[in-house]
Amino acid sequence: MKNIDACVFDAYGTLFNVAAAANRCRDALAGKADELSALWRTKQLEYTWLRSLMGDYVDFKQITGDGLDYALDTLDINDTALRDRLMNLYLELDAYPEVVDVLKVLNDGGIPSAILSNGSPDMLSSATENAGIKDLLADVYSVDEPKVYKPDPRVYQLAVDGLAIAAERICFMSSNAWDVAGAAHFGFRVVWVNRFGQKRERLPGQPEHEISTLAELPALLGLKT
Ligand code: LAC
Repeated sequence: MKNIDACVFDAYGTLFNVAAAANRCRDALAGKADELSALWRTKQLEYTWLRSLMGDYVDFKQITGDGLDYALDTLDINDTALRDRLMNLYLELDAYPEVVDVLKVLNDGGIPSAILSNGSPDMLSSATENAGIKDLLADVYSVDEPKVYKPDPRVYQLAVDGLAIAAERICFMSSNAWDVAGAAHFGFRVVWVNRFGQKRERLPGQPEHEISTLAELPALLGLKT
C-alpha cells in the first residue's frame, strides 16, 4: 500500500480480544462462556446501531452493560457478582499478542497510529493502559464526541480532522466486516483483519486487503519487522 501517512485501528475485536472477559470467567459460567461472549457482543453492537437510529445515545460502557444484561438474562444467569466481574474484565481486555510489536514497527517506520472506536474515553484509556500501548498511539478518537456510533460517517471523520490527514492517505484496520464496509464507504484505505474467517458483508465499501492478523500489516506497508 503506497501513500499512507497514518494507521487508524478499530479497538474491540481488532486490538483487544472481546472474548477475554468471558474466557476468564469460564469457571463460573459452567460451559456457557462462548455462548455468553457471542450473544453479549451481538447485542452490544445491535444496541449501538439501534440507539443511533433512535437518536438516543448513551456511552459504550452503558451499551456494553445493557448487552451483558440481555445475554445473562437469555442464558438464565442471575448473579450480580459475576456481572460485575465480567464488566470489570471488559475494561482490561487482553490485546492480541502481535499488537504491541506491530505498533512499534509502525512508529519506527514513521507512520503514526491512532484508535478510532465506539469505546468511551474512560474504557479506551484503561484498555490502552492495561495493554501497554498508550505511548505508542498518536491519539485515541471516541464516538463519545459526535455521540453517534459507527458506521456513521461523522465517526470516521473524527480521525481525518484529528490527524489533519486526508481519508485516502489513512489506512484503517478493523476485524469487524461491517466496520470495514463503513470505513471504506467513507473513503479510508481499508485493511480487513479477518481474525474470525468471516464472509464479506453484502454492503457498499470494500477493503483493499484482507489479512488474518495484524502481524501481516507492516509488510503490506513496505515496513521491515
Ligand atoms: C469499536 C467496535 C466496533 O471498537 O469494536 O469501535
